[in-house]
Formats: sequence, C-alpha cells, structure tokens
Amino acid sequence: MLIDIIAGARPNFMKIAPIIEAIENEQKNGLNLHYRLIHTGQHYDKKMSNDFFDQLGIPKPHINLNVGSGTQAEQTGKIMLRYEEVLLNAPSDMCLVVGDVTSTMACSIAAKKLNIKVAHVEAGIRSGDITMPEEINRIVTDSITDYFFTTSEAANNNLRKQGVKEENVFFVGNTMIDTLLKQMDRFIKPAFWNELNLKAKHYIVMTLHRPNNVDQESQLRDLINEITECCSHLPIVFPVHPRTAKMLTQVGISAPNLHLIEPLGYLEFNYLVKHAKAVITDSGGITEETTVMGIPCMTLRNSTERPETCTIGTNELLGTDPKAIKPAMQKIFDGQWKTGGIPELWDGNTSGRIVSVLKMIGKLQIQMEEI
Ligand code: UD1
Repeated sequence: MLIDIIAGARPNFMKIAPIIEAIENEQKNGLNLHYRLIHTGQHYDKKMSNDFFDQLGIPKPHINLNVGSGTQAEQTGKIMLRYEEVLLNAPSDMCLVVGDVTSTMACSIAAKKLNIKVAHVEAGIRSGDITMPEEINRIVTDSITDYFFTTSEAANNNLRKQGVKEENVFFVGNTMIDTLLKQMDRFIKPAFWNELNLKAKHYIVMTLHRPNNVDQESQLRDLINEITECCSHLPIVFPVHPRTAKMLTQVGISAPNLHLIEPLGYLEFNYLVKHAKAVITDSGGITEETTVMGIPCMTLRNSTERPETCTIGTNELLGTDPKAIKPAMQKIFDGQWKTGGIPELWDGNTSGRIVSVLKMIGKLQIQMEEI
C-alpha cells in the first residue's frame, strides 16, 4: 500500500515526524507499506519549515508543490491543482492528512475526488467557531474522510454526532505529544537566553497569529500593551509569526520588557516553554504542549477545539478582551493556577497505534483485491 503523507504548514511537521518514523521502523521488520512525503509549500520560510525538518529528522519530501503565499482560495486552489496532477501521474492508495490547515483540506478533496481513501489524523475536533478558517478545514476534511484518527473522547463524540460509523474511528492519542516526549531531552537553550538575562520561571512566552488578534491594528496594540503592563517586572519573549510581523511593523510597538524575536526552531521554542512562568497564546497546538509540560497557559480566544486542555490540562480561555489578562496573570503570580493532568493516550505511543491500524487497512485492501 502506498500512502501519501501530506505536510504543508508549521504545525503539521511535528505531527507527521513520528508517523514517518513508525512506518520506517516497521519497514525494517518487513512491512509492505510505503509512503510518499508531499510538502505543499504553504509554509516555505526556512524558520517556518526547513528548520523543523532538520531538527525533527524528517526526510526530505519526495515532492514539493511549492504553492507559497496567497489568499485562502488561492492556496486551496493551487494545492488541489498541483496535488491532483501528482495523483493523475502516479496514484497512491491513501492520502493521510494531519491537523486543520489549508493543505489538510485541499489535499483531502483532491484525493477523494479521485476515489483515493483519506485518513485524517486529529479528526473530529471542533471549536464551533465557523469564522476560523481552520474550523472550515476540519469540517470539510472530516466530511470526506474514510479513516478518523482521534486525540480525545470529545473528538469521538463530535464524529458520532456527525454520523460517522464507529468502526472508522480510531481513538489513538496525539502524535504531537509523541514528538514532544521524544524530543524533550534534546530541547536547546536558545542563543539569546543570556543576552536577554532570562531565568527559569521568570519570563513569559507569547505567541499570536490568529487573524482575530493580529489583523486589526487596535486589537494587536491593546493586547500587547496590556500584557507588557501586567508583567512589567518580567521579560516577555515573543517569537513573531510572519503574519503578525507584517502588522507589528505598522503598529510599531515597543516596551522595555518586550522582546520580539524571529520564529524559533522546535527544540528552542519548547525549551523556552518548558522553563517559562506562563504562556500567552492564541495557538491550538501550544495548549497541548503546555498541558503535557504542566505550564500555565492563557489562551486569547473565545473557543477551543481542544477542550481537554482546559478541563484536564493547564489551559484557560480568556477570550480576546485585553481586560481579561490582568486577573489571570494575578492568579499565576499568586500561585493559584490549576496544576492539571495528562489526557488519555497522550503517552508518546500514538504513531505506533496509527501504523497498526494502517497495517490492518492494508491487509483488508489486499483481501478485497483478491476477491
Ligand atoms: C497557518 C494555519 C494555522 C496555523 C499556522 C501556524 C491555515 C488556514 N492556517 O496560518 O492553522 O496555526 O499556519 O503557523 O492553514 N508566511 C511567510 N512565510 C511562511 C509562511 C507564511 O511569510 O513560511 C506569511 C504568508 O505570506 C501570509 C502569512 O504569513 O502573509 C500567513 O500564512 P498562511 O500560511 O496563510 O497562514 P498562517 O497564518 O500561517
């Protein structure tokens, strides 16, 4: 069986790395399962892409669709056209997509229209906020997925509500956490640590890139002003996503405790998170990593597709009103933040479970062909 593994944007890379490793390990044991790694090129900067491949030991993609930047529709259209061409020239037996980025949705549509089976890793999660491009990507992808690999009981329930057959849902855990646990011993202290005079548990890490928070000048300015004022005695380290960088140049914000830096590699970023007092973010994946590392996390969003990071983990939704930051921060300074636990099956063995299911599907396919 030939599986296309699709990766397009930064949050995909840590999700595919352990799946590829698990397939390669099984191949050494004679497994007749092959993969073709396809990078759509949605993220293309060295710091958003290549550095992750290097640090996580991901092999060079077999094919790069090189789609680059564009509007949502431009990116979706380009990815579909270019992936369809790949499939028409050399079809695969399955298209495996991860997460919820534009590449996830675009490749599943292209494959499904050519009657190629679609497997979705991180299926079933929902924020309920249809204004997020990611929510549209999740709903569309899951509406045409054949095999659903899920991270939580909440995701399983969402799929049940959607009418998905139980036998196609595989509750396997979280591949992002496979990578986190595997790489934890290799985390790298960033080169600027001494220069910024950082001390463990005495700084805040911040990431912002959601259109709701960063595309309007006033919202971005108010958020950053509030955060820098609330934590005036602590350094705030802010690795800036390219989308946010464009707006920040217009806003022109500066504060003595605010340190704007370029996007970090995986190993440096997670070192920073692991030793932080707290994290402020509007990301989804980071709330999973802070949950597993037990770091207080304040999410500047009104909804989350990962409710277990709040009910079990260390995450709390503050909404997007800057006024919510001060009381939350005070709770952290007073040592009143919840400690949290680890969600079921976020144990580092998810990719092995996924490959076991893929083996079973491969065997069934061979039996069907023989009939
Ligand atoms: C995408 C994902 C989001 C994910 C985020 C993490 C979608 C709909 N969104 O959002 O779920 O959390 O990645 O990074 O797929 N850019 C560069 N260099 C790059 C990549 C992007 O300069 O390597 C610029 C683009 O030109 C664009 C902006 O950053 O102006 C946004 O990039 P885009 O891929 O459209 O979406 P993200 O906001 O990164």
